[in-house]
Amino acid sequence: MDKLIIRGGNRLSGTIPISGAKNSALTLIPCALLTEEPLTLRNLPRLADIDGFQHLMNQFGVTTVIQGGRPEDFGRVMSLEAPRITSNVAPYDLVRRMRASILVLGPLLARTGEATVSMPGGCAIGNRPIDLHLKALEAFGAQIELTAGYVKAVAPGGSLPGGSYDFPVVSVGATENALMAAVLAAGTCRLSNAAREPEIVDLCNLLVAMGAEIEGIGSGDLTIHGVKRLHGATYRVMADRIEAGSYACAAAITGGEVLLEGARVEDMGATVDALTAIGVAVEAEKRGLRVAANGPLRATDLTTAPYPGLATDMQAQLMSLLTRARGTSVLTETIFENRYMHVPELARMGADIAVSGRTATVTGVERLTGAAVMATDLRASMSLIIAALAADGESEVRRIYHLDRGYERLEEKLQLVGADIQRVGDD
Ligand code: EPZ
Repeated sequence: MDKLIIRGGNRLSGTIPISGAKNSALTLIPCALLTEEPLTLRNLPRLADIDGFQHLMNQFGVTTVIQGGRPEDFGRVMSLEAPRITSNVAPYDLVRRMRASILVLGPLLARTGEATVSMPGGCAIGNRPIDLHLKALEAFGAQIELTAGYVKAVAPGGSLPGGSYDFPVVSVGATENALMAAVLAAGTCRLSNAAREPEIVDLCNLLVAMGAEIEGIGSGDLTIHGVKRLHGATYRVMADRIEAGSYACAAAITGGEVLLEGARVEDMGATVDALTAIGVAVEAEKRGLRVAANGPLRATDLTTAPYPGLATDMQAQLMSLLTRARGTSVLTETIFENRYMHVPELARMGADIAVSGRTATVTGVERLTGAAVMATDLRASMSLIIAALAADGESEVRRIYHLDRGYERLEEKLQLVGADIQRVGDD
C-alpha cells in the first residue's frame, strides 16, 4: 500500500486542472445499459472507482474501450456499447467493493425487465441503506424481493407501468436509480423531493441527449415520460465540484492563491459562501475559480444539507481549514451518522476539535504539527492532506487507496502548485 509524505509550509500558487466529477461519472456509466447503441463519455476521471465500474459493466456484456489520452493528460474518453445484455446479475464480490454499483439496478431493470443486485452493505461513514431506492422502484410498479443478501427487481410484463413517489428523505443515489428505471417505462413516472445535486442534472442531461423525456430538471419535482428506446450519445462529464472545493481548502490553509481550472462556479454556491465567510477570496473567472487567502481565517458555523445546501462531501475539508481559523466554529453533519472519523487524526496534528453526536466544535489553533496519520474514508483522507500542507514538519498519510478512489493523481496536481508531497510505497 502506498503512503504520502508531505512537508507542510509551502504556499500553494498556480493552476490546478479540475477533473470530471466522480459522482457524476458513476451514474453516467450505467446509462450505457439503457441502449444498444454506443455511449461515449468524455472527461472521465482516472480513478479506481471508474476502473471498478468498467469491470462491473463488462459482467453484463458491455464492451468498454478507453480511447486516446496521453499519459500526462488528465481525464479519459470511454466508449461503452451494450448491443445485448448477457447477464442482469451484479455479484456480491463486485458490489461489496464499490457501493455505487447499486446504480446498475435501475438501468438493468429498465432494459431487461429484471435485475438481481447484491445489497451494497454499509461503509465507514454510515450503514447506507437502499430502502428509498427500492420504494421508488416499487412505486413505479416493480416487484422487489430480498433474498440471501440480493435485491431482485422485476417489471411485470417486462416494463414498468409508471407511478409517483415522494421521497421522505432526499437521496442522490435513489433519485439516480429511479430516473434510470423510469426513462424506458411504459407510462409516466413522477418524483417529488428528489435530489437536486448538479450530478443529478448531469444525469438528466445525458438521458435527454439519449432521447429521454424529462421535465423539471434541476428541481425536486421530476416527471419522466417513458419512451420505447434510447439511442447512443457522446457526452462530457461535468467538472468535479467536490475536488474543486477540496483544492480550494488546500490553497486557503497555506495562505496561497490557486486557479481551479474548469471548476463550475454555478455548482459550488454553498461552498463558495462557506469559503467567503471564512475569509477566503473567491472569484469566478473564464477559466474557472480563483481562490486566494491573504488574511486571517475566520471561525464560521457550517451545517451540511442536500443541494443547494452545503455538501456533506465538503465537511471534512472545511473542518481542516477551520482548525487554523481564529475563534470557535460549530459544524453540524446532517446527512451521514458517522462522518467525523477525520477528527482523531486531525487531533494527532494538534487540532482542537470536540465531537458530540452530529456536531463538531473546532477551536482554532496557532499551528498544526506534522504526524503519521491514517486515512479512513475518501473525504476524511483529503482533510488530512489539507492539514498536512499547513502543518510544521513532515506528515505521513497512510492507506491512501481511499484517496485514489476520488482524487485523480492528487500528488501530481498538488506538486503543480508547489506542494512538497511525495507518494512512496508503504513497507
Ligand atoms: C451520494 O451517495 C454520493 N456518492 C456521496 O458521496 C454523497 O456524500 C451523498 O450522495 C450525499 O450527497 C455518489 O454519488 C457515488 P444519499 P448516496 O442516498 O447516494 C440516507 C463521496 O465522498 N438514505 O443521498 O449513497 C443515507 O443513509 C461520497 O464522494 C436512506 O436512508 O447518498 C444518508 O443518510 C460519500 N435510504 C442520506 O439518505 C436510502 O435508500 C443521503 O444519502 C438511501 C439513502
